[in-house]
Amino acid sequence: MIAKLDELRAKALSELDSIDTSGGLEAWRIRYLGRKSALTEIPRGLATLPLDEKRATGAAANELRAFLEKTLTLKEEVIREAEIARSIEQGRLDITLPGRPANLGRLHPTTQMLRHICDIFMAMGFEVVEGPDVEWDYYNFEALNIPQDHPARDMWDTLWMDFETEDGRHPMLLRTHTSPMQIRVMEARRPPVRVIVPGKVYRYEATDATHEAMFYQIEGFAIDRNITLADLKGTLFEFAKRLFGKERKARFRCDYFPFVEPGVEMAIDCFLCNGTGCQLCSGSGWIEILGAGMVHPDVLRRVNYDPDVYTGFAFGLGLERMLMLKYGIDDIRLFYSNDLRFLRQF
Ligand code: DAH
Repeated sequence: MIAKLDELRAKALSELDSIDTSGGLEAWRIRYLGRKSALTEIPRGLATLPLDEKRATGAAANELRAFLEKTLTLKEEVIREAEIARSIEQGRLDITLPGRPANLGRLHPTTQMLRHICDIFMAMGFEVVEGPDVEWDYYNFEALNIPQDHPARDMWDTLWMDFETEDGRHPMLLRTHTSPMQIRVMEARRPPVRVIVPGKVYRYEATDATHEAMFYQIEGFAIDRNITLADLKGTLFEFAKRLFGKERKARFRCDYFPFVEPGVEMAIDCFLCNGTGCQLCSGSGWIEILGAGMVHPDVLRRVNYDPDVYTGFAFGLGLERMLMLKYGIDDIRLFYSNDLRFLRQF
């Protein structure tokens, strides 16, 4: 009987060895440990044996059952791992597939130019200050020597807002230029001041290729003792060279702005034709880039700066105009019509 058990053990082990699926393993379990297996049958046939042999065979059969069960558990483990490995191998993610390209955003061309110009002036010691888009008549006009009913107001087509309180009407507007910040900054500080003010401005304007109802300006001004027109020219010439190339020439001619005296218009020689005349410069060889001047003594007086002690220069430029010149863009409306074909070029 014991010999039979040994034979059974050897057979079970050798069969188990060649099994590599859980289905095969289950069949093996039924065959060797199931209700109708030889191992289950053996103790049933012991009744006729002498007691000693009965005991010894029973114990051996139990030992064999325990052994086979333990072996089964180990084998189950091995097969499960193998099957997981196989299923990963068959259905695995192909991580070598290239990912979808991420859509990278970019800064709007106006923002890029704004930062570029601010960088140029910051390198020359100017500080960046911002102000309100909605402004009082006083700052946008009055304090800048543009009184009510003065014809100079015609230079700025204005979007007005009615603002009325019990003590009267306080005319409010969308600022037509960034110049009002000259007044706000000077009211709040004592000289020396060197400030640039980037920001949006608004005009009551029929839009066309060169006019928008909203655009950007950068205002700049410097007030201190002994500031002269030579400082204005030197600073703005340096700016123009850094933006449009160091071989640029500059031209200053008289112009009129109520808040400066004298007032000038600055032009650079055309960087496209080098001054010989082309479409960009309308054949003149020169391109106007900004307005400027020496801050008017009345403006200084209004903010309690003594014009006999302090002088200064101011300038204002249109940001989109700089972009249009630099990149040969022929329509200002392109900037704010959200056409990605245009915007992606920057
Ligand atoms: N604010 C003027 C405009 O919008 C531009 C300007 C001209 C600003 C001369 C200045 C300046 O500071 O001195 O047309």
